[in-house]
Amino acid sequence: MKLDIDFVRKQFDQLADDPGFAFASNAGGSYVCNQANEVLEHYNRHTRVQPYSRYSPSAEAGKAMDRAHAGWAEALNIRPSELTIGPSTSINTYVMAQAIGEIWKPGDEIIVTNQDHETNSGVWRRKAIEKGVTIRQWEVEPDTGLLNIESLFPLLRDNTRWVFFTHCSNIVGTVNPVATIVKTIKSGSNARVFIDAVAYAPHHISDLKALGVDCYAFSLYKVYGPHQGMLYVNRDAHGDMTSQAHYFNSGNPAKDFAPAGPQHAQIAACAGVLDYFDELHQHHFGASDKNRNAKLEQLHQLIVQHENELAAPLLEFLHHRADVRLLGKTHTGDNDRAPTIAFQPLKQSAKSVAHKLQDAKIGTEHGNFYAHRLISDLGIDPDDGVVRLSLVHYNNQQEVEQILQALDTALNQTGDDAAA
Ligand SMILES: Cc1ncc(COP(=O)(O)O)c(C=O)c1O
Repeated sequence: MKLDIDFVRKQFDQLADDPGFAFASNAGGSYVCNQANEVLEHYNRHTRVQPYSRYSPSAEAGKAMDRAHAGWAEALNIRPSELTIGPSTSINTYVMAQAIGEIWKPGDEIIVTNQDHETNSGVWRRKAIEKGVTIRQWEVEPDTGLLNIESLFPLLRDNTRWVFFTHCSNIVGTVNPVATIVKTIKSGSNARVFIDAVAYAPHHISDLKALGVDCYAFSLYKVYGPHQGMLYVNRDAHGDMTSQAHYFNSGNPAKDFAPAGPQHAQIAACAGVLDYFDELHQHHFGASDKNRNAKLEQLHQLIVQHENELAAPLLEFLHHRADVRLLGKTHTGDNDRAPTIAFQPLKQSAKSVAHKLQDAKIGTEHGNFYAHRLISDLGIDPDDGVVRLSLVHYNNQQEVEQILQALDTALNQTGDDAAA
C-alpha cells in the first residue's frame, strides 16, 4: 500500500493556493491541516471564554482543551499528567533548565552535543555554568555532522546527571537511534535523558515509553498544527525537579512546568492534528480499534516510504555534484534519514543559491537555522550557512522535479550573486 498523496494534499488548503509554488521549508514550520484550523476557528467563534467553569461555553472550552491533552498523551503512549503543552519548545527548555538545574551542584556533569539546535543546548550550558557543573560535549564527526555512539561512552561518568541530544538534526537529517542510545546511557550511568524531537516529530510520532527517555520535546507548528510546544516529563523524574508554577499550584503536574497561562484556543486546536491523522488512517486502513499510538505507527510505514521516495532523487543529485557538499547521509536506504536536506554550495554563496531557488518559486532558505555550533564545527560560515530543503509527507514528486530543475539551473549559474 502507498500513501494516497492526493488525499493528503486535500487536507491542507494552503497547498492549493499557488500550484506553481513548491514549499520546501517545512522544518521552519509546516502548513496547518484543515482539521486543526477548524478546531481553532470553532473555539474562537463559539467558546472564547475562560475555560473550565460550569457555564455552557466555558465547560465546552475546557472539554476541547482536555480532548487535545488526552489525545496527545495517547498518541505518545504516555499519561496525560506527563504532558505539558507550552508556548514553544524554546520556552519549554528554558523553563526546564530552571526545573532541572536547580538541584545541580559542583561535581555534577552534563553531556550536550554540538549537533543540536541551540534550544537544546544553550539553556543547559548556561545553567551548568551558573551551578559550577562540568559540561561535556558529544562531538559530531567533522565531515558529516553525524553523532557516533562510540564517542558517547567515554563521556559517561557516575556523576553524569543529564544527557541532552536530538532525535534528528534539523540540518543533517539523520535520525539518531534514541532507544539504543538511551539503553547505553542507562546501563553506564544514572543519567537522565532529554530529547529535542522538533525536527523528527513531523515525520514520526514516537512511542515515548518504548524510547525510554525522561523528557521529550517537539513543536506542533511543525507537525501541521498550532504554535505550541509539546513537552513530556516522565513521572518518575518529577521528584528530581522543582516546580515552576505559582506556589499554590505546585505539585500539579499540568502546571509545574508551564508557568505561562495556557493558550486555550491553540491547545484545543492541537486535537485537530489528531483528527487529521485519524482521517488519514481511516482512509488507508478503514475502521480500526487500535489505539492512537499503534495507528500512528501504521501510518508511519506509509509516510516513511513516501518521504524516502521524495528524498532519494534530491540526495542522488546533490551527492554527485562536485560543486556541492551534501551534509549527512547520502541515501535513505536505512530508513533513518528524514527528508531534511542541507548542502553547502562550493562555487557560490548559500545565499545566492537560495535566492535563485526562491526566484524559481521554491520555498527554501539559507543560514545556520540556529544550529550555529554544528554549522561552525562543520567549517561553514554560520552567517551564510547552508541551503536547506526540508520536505514532509504532503510534498509530491512534481515538486521534487521542480526543485531538481531549479537546483540544476541555480548551481550552474556560478559567479552570479546578482540574485542575492
Ligand atoms: C531542531 C529544533 N529544535 C528546537 C527548535 C525550537 O523550537 P521552537 O520554535 O518551538 O522554540 C527548532 C525550531 O526551529 C528546531 O528546528
